[in-house]
Amino acid sequence: MRILFLNGPNLNMLGSREPGVYGQSTLADIETQVREQARVRQVEAQFRQTNSEGELVGWVQEAGRGFEAVVLNAAAYTHTSVALRDAISAIDIPTIEIHISNVHAREEFRHRSLIAGVCRGQICGFGEYSYTLGLLAAINLIEKSKRR
Ligand code: DQA
Repeated sequence: MRILFLNGPNLNMLGSREPGVYGQSTLADIETQVREQARVRQVEAQFRQTNSEGELVGWVQEAGRGFEAVVLNAAAYTHTSVALRDAISAIDIPTIEIHISNVHAREEFRHRSLIAGVCRGQICGFGEYSYTLGLLAAINLIEKSKRR
């Protein structure tokens, strides 16, 4: 089972970026936690981060070839990117939208997600644990699709 974790802009700044909102862990710390959970469950998790919308779109397209699910923290592109939404629509594997913070409890512009309608579900507000929940949701979806 191969699951691709994609991270959008400014998530490379985790650890020092608004720790009151996003916590103290770096993206590398979060990756370590996810990898440990993935190892226990015998699945392969790959982690990537980019500040570029085009690169993120390219990775979503690529995920459709060779991965079974995408766990996506699109960061600010969540609220702005039709291109990302269209890429998610174009692939045949499920995408799970995740956020560290509870976007619905923040500024109004964060309440709207352009990608939510084409993702299988949204996980937000659990801090770094949103990533582990994303992993569990992805495994569950893949297992269910194999049972069918
Ligand atoms: C975020 C929430 C987004 O609104 C914001 O632009 C981010 C991070 C989160 O993980 O809480 O960069 O996706």
